[in-house]
Amino acid sequence: MSQSVAFTAAFADLEPKERYKLLCASVTPRPIALVTCVSTEGVVNAAPFSFFNVFSEDPALIVLGLQHRPGNTPKDTSRNIAAAGAFVVNLVDEALAEAMNICAIDFPPEVSEIDAAGLSLLPGVTVPVPRIAEAPFALECRKHSAMSFSPTRELLIGEVVRIHAREGLVDPRTLRVSMDGYKPVGRMFGDGYSRQNDRFDLRRGTYAEWVAERG
Ligand SMILES: Cc1cc2nc3c(=O)[nH]c(=O)nc-3n(C[C@H](O)[C@H](O)[C@H](O)COP(=O)(O)O)c2cc1C
Repeated sequence: MSQSVAFTAAFADLEPKERYKLLCASVTPRPIALVTCVSTEGVVNAAPFSFFNVFSEDPALIVLGLQHRPGNTPKDTSRNIAAAGAFVVNLVDEALAEAMNICAIDFPPEVSEIDAAGLSLLPGVTVPVPRIAEAPFALECRKHSAMSFSPTRELLIGEVVRIHAREGLVDPRTLRVSMDGYKPVGRMFGDGYSRQNDRFDLRRGTYAEWVAERG
């Protein structure tokens, strides 16, 4: 492949697999939600999702892109959240990355990824779903709504009702988050991930400053 030519493609001409490749490798790094939820049988499920982001703060909404398994069976996460209406988004840092990857294995519904990955749980406070004790942040969520775009694709919207942060990550007075203490991991493409240890600041200016600087 020549890297020196510009590339363009109409999505109508691409197979879904090709669109996935281009979208997931260009919209990156993506944050990772390690979602915990509980089955009707009481098994705690954990699975990572990088079709994930925060959408708004009033109301406080997060979005998750859930796709079914090949063969169209819903993932345990989709089934559990549809039944229970609540879940927890555990954010993933460098220390949690390997356990997160174990949680992505397609364990059967009766096997808890929590035990397999050697993780521990703390009880939910506002929702009846436990969070991962090792997670730097955890967002307790109630299912707000879900939009179905095909028999196998669902956009789940969750309302965040409580946040938990590991000791030392949030200054309770200013609510500032310590990025040096957090060390979040981003999803690149396929098996690729990124660390956030080369950050930089860009102060956002105002129109008045723009005019004053340029005359
Ligand atoms: C980093 C990472 C991100 C993932 N993101 C998604 C995603 O956004 N949507 C999705 O449906 N599956 C995603 N997966 C795959 C699920 O985690 C995987 O299918 C998991 O086994 C589902 O578990 P469950 O059946 O217990 O819900 C991702 C996997 C990894 C490793």
